[in-house]
Amino acid sequence: MSFLPLSLSVPSQLEFWEYLERLVVSCRLVIDRPRGSAHPRFPQFIYPLDYGYLEGIGSTDGSELDAWLGSAGARSLDALLLTVDLFKQDAEIKLLLGCTPADQQAVLHAANQGPMRAVLVPRTAQIAPGAAHGPPQDFSRWLCSRRSVRRFSDRPLDPGLLRHLLEGAACSPSAHHRQPWRFVVCSSPEARTRLAQVLGVEFERDLLADGMAAEVIRQRVERSRRRIQSAQAAVVLCADRRAQDVYPDEPRRLAESMMAVQGVAMAGENLLLAAHAAGLAGVWLCAPLFAPRAVQAAFNLPEEWQPQGLVLLGYPGETPAPRERLPLDQVACFL
Ligand SMILES: Cc1cc2nc3c(=O)[nH]c(=O)nc-3n(C[C@H](O)[C@H](O)[C@H](O)COP(=O)(O)O)c2cc1C
Repeated sequence: MSFLPLSLSVPSQLEFWEYLERLVVSCRLVIDRPRGSAHPRFPQFIYPLDYGYLEGIGSTDGSELDAWLGSAGARSLDALLLTVDLFKQDAEIKLLLGCTPADQQAVLHAANQGPMRAVLVPRTAQIAPGAAHGPPQDFSRWLCSRRSVRRFSDRPLDPGLLRHLLEGAACSPSAHHRQPWRFVVCSSPEARTRLAQVLGVEFERDLLADGMAAEVIRQRVERSRRRIQSAQAAVVLCADRRAQDVYPDEPRRLAESMMAVQGVAMAGENLLLAAHAAGLAGVWLCAPLFAPRAVQAAFNLPEEWQPQGLVLLGYPGETPAPRERLPLDQVACFL
């Protein structure tokens, strides 16, 4: 006899919501009880939002799957409502689509009247409890809440979650859709130690050449080693030279190579944002850019994989305060 796992891994939880969302987009949403209308049999019950069902999708009460449609305008799946009704003698799930936090509270209040009780399962809470992340209501503000984190806790990183984050990174846009990014994923402590070692040697050599004092060099190299080793994963981002179009002239060759670098940078940012959305922390380090040959040799990488940067990932061991940015009007001109 086999047993089901007691708790689902984070990727499975993410997939639960994704699968449910597939149902939502696969069918028509019928609104048969508009916002402000009264319940046909219990006229004292007024629908606080549009209410209806997903046509053709079955539910536990034998009819179609019920859904509330909120004021956010989109049909994004934001939460579930689990209900119990002592009058009807049933329990059901209902979907909350396009529901702002205020909409969710209104629905929750409406579903906790008379013989009914309900609990809300917000989609964000399923990604990583307690963290301010997930599909945000205010995406720009959420983007600004990401910070580089350089200290990590020793909480292990689920390998499935790491794969999930990398899948997010690999969804980035790229020139000619050539997908030039290559990820060297140092998930074992041994690989991270190896990486920290080779980068440390190169870093030390550069600082010596700069004429820096021996003690300062020792401290800086040691800090860099510790950072890499304390992360739960270190991902070397490479640009694959083979994923570039070939041109006979230098200007276009240069542009092509820059486009590959830009594509890798986008994948790196996607990786940082995917980590942020999952309640993880990360930072981009430039060290491999200064030691490409050493990194290639350490991991026996193909010659064409050009190291561009390093993203450290893990659960945060510090919480940096929000950081000022240049005023928009200093970096943008509106014509
Ligand atoms: C291309 C690039 C290279 C970076 N290199 C390093 C680095 O070598 N060491 C480091 O501590 N942070 C590095 N960072 C992180 C930046 O210092 C950080 O993004 C910046 O100070 C803004 O802070 P925030 O990310 O917390 O908003 C790098 C970031 C980018 C985009």
